[in-house]
Amino acid sequence: MIIAPSLLAANFAKFGKEAARVERAGGDWLHLDIMDGHFVPNISFGPQVVRIANEATDMFLDVHLMCSRPEILLEPFAKAGADSMTTHVELGERVESLLWKIRSLGKKVGLAINPPTPITAVQPFLKKIDTLLIMTVNPGFGGQPFISETLPKVQQALAWREKMGLKYHIEVDGGINFQTAAECARAGADAYVSGTGLFGEHSLKTAISKMRRIVTHEGKHFPPKAG
Ligand code: DX5
Ligand code: ZN
Repeated sequence: MIIAPSLLAANFAKFGKEAARVERAGGDWLHLDIMDGHFVPNISFGPQVVRIANEATDMFLDVHLMCSRPEILLEPFAKAGADSMTTHVELGERVESLLWKIRSLGKKVGLAINPPTPITAVQPFLKKIDTLLIMTVNPGFGGQPFISETLPKVQQALAWREKMGLKYHIEVDGGINFQTAAECARAGADAYVSGTGLFGEHSLKTAISKMRRIVTHEGKHFPPKAG
């Protein structure tokens, strides 16, 4: 099971130190939320800040692009040290070429889906991705409540993965705390993004271990190891 703390909930004034703190606390991936003020009504940070995280840690950098024009951003984020880049299925006919471009940059390929979008939208791309990111809040802000109506999407993603013999991660993002992580684990998730749910705890290290223990106990489904 993968625990991916989101730096959106960290102290931006000491970004590098916060990234290093996540590494020391035992986070598996570092989740970096890129918001462009257009695809979502908020602006976060750009490649220079991802570079700071890359220099401060050896962590796997999971870059989530909530952006209307990721085509102009993939190369800068790749150069800044992204290990995985996730783009949204809501971009429609551009998705196929975006996934191809991420792959051609030598990065892991992620595809995200917003709560109102039907899960069938991602079906044509399942063979081309390493991670399916199921948004469990409407993207744009940290600290929002989990939308439980998204859980059937996690179940469907798992059913497809098993039926098709694929290996993509099923990642959930938004409103993930100890309780909602357990619900997602029972539905079939194996990667958990959490901002407020982890950074709001007294000890990040204890919180990460606790979340890992809960989802390992509650979840029965792990993706097959990449071959
Ligand atoms: C939401 C972002 C999330 C965000 C989650 O738009 O994609 O990754 O950081 O924050 P929490 O865990 O606070 O809901
Ligand atoms: Zn995110």
